[in-house]
Amino acid sequence: MAKLKGLLLAGGTGSRLRPLTYTGAKQLIPVANRPILFYAVDALVAAGVEEIGVIVGDTRREVEAALGDGSQFDAHLTYIPQSEPLGLAHAVKTARSFLGTSPFLMFLGDNLLRGGLTRLATRFMTGGFAAAILLTEVKDPTQFGVAVVEDGRVVRLVEKPKDPPSNLALVGAYCFGPTIHHAIDRLEPSWRGEYEITDAIQTLIDQNLSVDATLVEGWWKDTGRPEDVLEANRLVLEDIENQIDGTVDDESHLEGRVIVGLGAQVIRSTIRGPVSIAAGARIQDSYVGPYTSIGQGVLISHTEIENSVVLTDSKISAVNGRIDQSLIGRGVTVSGVQTRPRAVHLILGDQSRIDL
Ligand code: TTP
Repeated sequence: MAKLKGLLLAGGTGSRLRPLTYTGAKQLIPVANRPILFYAVDALVAAGVEEIGVIVGDTRREVEAALGDGSQFDAHLTYIPQSEPLGLAHAVKTARSFLGTSPFLMFLGDNLLRGGLTRLATRFMTGGFAAAILLTEVKDPTQFGVAVVEDGRVVRLVEKPKDPPSNLALVGAYCFGPTIHHAIDRLEPSWRGEYEITDAIQTLIDQNLSVDATLVEGWWKDTGRPEDVLEANRLVLEDIENQIDGTVDDESHLEGRVIVGLGAQVIRSTIRGPVSIAAGARIQDSYVGPYTSIGQGVLISHTEIENSVVLTDSKISAVNGRIDQSLIGRGVTVSGVQTRPRAVHLILGDQSRIDL
């Protein structure tokens, strides 16, 4: 069999992550100070994939600038513009000339998998299947594509079922042989106007072709919503090790596992890990609590913050009360008012969210 190619989906709209996605690709939002998309490329490369097609949309330039030619990941990347985000099957159709007749592993660029893609890829490449999908048990299957599995083979797929036939949801990783292209050619758009990959896989099943099911090992996280990004950040920070490349003064206390990047400064502050503080950030007279990532060049002053992600170059100072469970974009200023009356002044972009 030909070598497995990769298809990484980094287009889409990212509407659920507005306003952050007005100014940037959702797949480049960092968790533990590294873009989510980088973990996805790593996972493909670790599964033995070197040739990767990257589906890009409106945020093409930003994605290309971040990933480059792929040499930093030991991969070779080809960018494939998708005219409109018309669904996962449409993305495969768009990549047809890149894929040729090769088997391929498709992975959603906003998904994170602790256990990686190697087992899925190996089973597919050695099993002689038309497709292989990755599944995980979920509490509320009505929100997902759901699979019915018998003897390790998928016998039926239902997209967002009202009456779920199982609690096994499809996660964003799929292996396909070239027969998927014929199935996609015959596809009609679904009720939501998208070309659904689940419909294409169901066509394979209807033709008595075998579709393998593998269960996720470790955690899986789709980072579609702000609360998912915070949860992904928490899960990735669980695995970090201590690394202090910046400076920590004598009046500061570090507890647990903490990363302090090059040129970052911690001054008269308490940091309770796991915490990642990126290069050039400054934390002064503050408390940074568990599961927090502070981006490059950020200033945190006279503030308490935990369970949060702060992106590049934001400034947070003298905030009353603790900032918790917050996702703060690039170049944002949040400052407490010390004078009375304590009015709240807000200059917020469209679709911002603030709980006071
Ligand atoms: P989704 O999260 O389903 O869609 P989205 O990114 O448009 O987000 P939202 O629903 O908040 O508007 O997409 C999953 C991944 O696949 C994501 O990384 C974007 C990518 N994608 C494409 O590249 N092309 C497409 O046509 C679609 C639907 C998604």
